[in-house]
Amino acid sequence: MSDEDLINLINAAYVVAAVLFIWGMAQLRRPSTARRGNQYAAVGMAIAVGATLFNPGIDGGSAFIWIAAGILSGAIIGAFLARTVEMTQMPEMVAVFNGFGGLASALVAGAELIRLNDLDADIDLDIVITIALSTAIGALTLSGSIVAAAKLHGTMNTNPILIPARNIVSLVVAAAVLAFGVLLIVDPDATVWYIALAAAALLLGYLVAIPIGGADMPVLVALFNSYSGLAAAAAGFVIGNDVLIITGALVGASGLILTSIMTRAMNRSVTNVMFGGFGQSGADVTSGDGEQRPYRSVNADDAGVMLAYANSAVFVVGYGLAVAQAQHDLRALADIMTNKGCDVKYGIHPVAGRMPGHMNVLLAEADVPYDQLYDIEEINRELENAEIAVVIGANDVVNPQARSNPGSPIYGMPIIDVDKAANVIVMKRSMASGFSGIDNDLFYLDQTSMLFGDAKKSLKSLVTEVEDLVKNG
Ligand code: TAP
Repeated sequence: MSDEDLINLINAAYVVAAVLFIWGMAQLRRPSTARRGNQYAAVGMAIAVGATLFNPGIDGGSAFIWIAAGILSGAIIGAFLARTVEMTQMPEMVAVFNGFGGLASALVAGAELIRLNDLDADIDLDIVITIALSTAIGALTLSGSIVAAAKLHGTMNTNPILIPARNIVSLVVAAAVLAFGVLLIVDPDATVWYIALAAAALLLGYLVAIPIGGADMPVLVALFNSYSGLAAAAAGFVIGNDVLIITGALVGASGLILTSIMTRAMNRSVTNVMFGGFGQSGADVTSGDGEQRPYRSVNADDAGVMLAYANSAVFVVGYGLAVAQAQHDLRALADIMTNKGCDVKYGIHPVAGRMPGHMNVLLAEADVPYDQLYDIEEINRELENAEIAVVIGANDVVNPQARSNPGSPIYGMPIIDVDKAANVIVMKRSMASGFSGIDNDLFYLDQTSMLFGDAKKSLKSLVTEVEDLVKNG
């Protein structure tokens, strides 16, 4: 077979891989098909990698040994991480993956620059521009993602680190990135500009990430995810690999969409996240005049009676459920209620918890039936008719201030309208505020009962209580 025929076949395989990627992504829209979507995408990746191995440009023997070593070590590390990383460490793992994606793109660009210089060939302008882009975006993504992972892991101070005149310093470094990029484009033979560009971009990534509070990190991680895709797409142009361009563009676009969904659901803008210094841990932003308002607290016995006799219930879960790791106990309670004929639904807010899909993942761990999961719009249509809404470790995402108080930092954020249910039980440990640091009007409503305690402990007590009541009629 001629080299040309082989390349055509490889490109046909890339098209199949790209279709599988897109099809797989479409399946991720529903929890029930998400696992299958992942499998389609994995098959697509296997086809893309397999087809690339037939590229006539790979000059046999030792090249295959290097490739095999890379694939083997990557597979071992990947399999080890997939088995050992806790669900709550997922955002930092994604951050590390993004960083390595950026590093790979910057290295591919550098390797191609060295190869072309060794050939003494005239490097086309479009190629050298994409080399500069891939290097700059890749290096920025690497250092920014490492800072994000370190903050999420707690290895680095999670508070925003604000250096003096930070915006000016960042502007100067951004100008240096631009200048070194132009110098590389003008004089691609001088590899020193590649090194200078990579170094300046690494510094810029660090400066971009340090002022962001630990709790806002997931937004930054989503943004860097998008950058890693852009760097990969640029690397695809550098080496003329279509499937890398397609996957890079897919990652770039989906990362941007995810960033926008997250910021919209938090009623924030990306600029506000990047420059706002919001989400400092320990931030004490309280609302109102500091006056103590009365609220009703109940014990597990009383709450158990309310649940045992309810005909319809909506569970709304939040960050506290993840902290308490109480998803299995919640499922046990919901099962008892469902079996005695109660119509049980779960309402999921898009930014409940601390990472996209956090609550979906948590409830999937407990095998909660998918048909009981409702998104924010769907559940809000149900809540007016619900006999009881049970809030477990959620706070900001059910705060009616978002609808009623234009002065509130969360004003305008879509919330789950649990205050419209006839009765509300809120399970948390204290009257403390959630991520946004503001008081929650829900806790003081006539129909609200506070059940204080760790969510796992409270749910275990409720399971015993409701089980007894149901058994004894
Ligand atoms: P939060 O508003 O953070 O409230 C969580 C509540 O859980 C706290 O008020 C806390 O109260 C309670 N809690 C903590 N540990 C608990 C335990 N062991 N048992 C029982 N309760 C416990 O959470 P949310 O309602 O899920 O809202 C998420 C917030 O994070 C939003 O403001 C969102 O904008 C922000 N955010 C989300 C994301 C993503 S992508 N999901 C990313 C960044 C920021 P006590 O201390 O009194 O128990």
